Amino acid sequence: MKRKGIILAGGSGTRLWPLTDIACKQLLPVYDKPMIYYPLSTLMLGGIEEILIISTEKDIPSFRNLFGDGSHLGMSFEYAVQKEPKGIAEALLIGESFLNGAGCSLILGDNLFYGRLDFYRLGLEQEKGATIYGYPVKNPRDFGVVEFDSDFRVLAIEEKPAQPKSQYAIPGLYIYDEEVCARARSLSPSARGELEITDLNRSYLADDLLKCIPLGRGIAWLDTGTPASLLEASHYIATIENQQKYKIACIEEIALNQGFVTESEYGKLIESARNPDYRAYLEMVLADFLLG
Ligand code: TTP
Repeated sequence: MKRKGIILAGGSGTRLWPLTDIACKQLLPVYDKPMIYYPLSTLMLGGIEEILIISTEKDIPSFRNLFGDGSHLGMSFEYAVQKEPKGIAEALLIGESFLNGAGCSLILGDNLFYGRLDFYRLGLEQEKGATIYGYPVKNPRDFGVVEFDSDFRVLAIEEKPAQPKSQYAIPGLYIYDEEVCARARSLSPSARGELEITDLNRSYLADDLLKCIPLGRGIAWLDTGTPASLLEASHYIATIENQQKYKIACIEEIALNQGFVTESEYGKLIESARNPDYRAYLEMVLADFLLG
């Protein structure tokens, strides 16, 4: 099934204030790129070419500046405003006309994944229902927590439980079938006035249509919501990029390797790279690509 992608990149970014007075969290740098490059890369590596970016009225113009209509990457980008941070599941209502009956993958604009993304492609292969992920954490009490059986069927989801039933936190990456908008429409706001993603996932769970794929040790899942975690994420990316030949979340490289752009279109991406080091990297990628 061909799915579309939604990146939710609004929110209030309170914990990063006053940084978030300059730009929203998802535009802030994680080492050498804007944060949104990382979740965008995840979607691209899943083969998703049509993307909706949802953010605040103030920040949408900056995202538009960054990506335009996406055609330079062989992709299609659309933009929509979330007037107030009324919950993650509201993304599916805002994105309903964009999805136009298609299934989707939703990713939060501040979630970074690094490692082999087989888990993601596996989730995207599911035709029916919804897929979430489980990431083993030290402190499950701080997260939405998922309990699942050996067939990956979800048994329960709990928000910040005092007595967690598992060690698996739910990262901000979700895969839904084409029923998702109808299900989102039937949700009511929670006590805090938000459309909760947990309630959307519970709607699939109630019909026994919710799977959870556990993420192994080889996957890094980084959240970037506080000054400390933002700095740690930058250090993490820098550590790998300064040792390894490859960059993490280089969207031009991914567009080439995914076949979204031809070699000549990629040549234009190289020409438009204003940073000589970045440009040299893109040239190296092309040389490797041509060697096969
Ligand atoms: P949070 O980290 O829960 O919230 P926040 O980004 O507003 O930050 P803070 O808690 O410091 O105020 O949000 C998780 C992600 O989801 C983040 O990328 C913002 C996004 N988000 C929205 O875009 N709209 C929403 O309504 C909500 C709840 C979150």
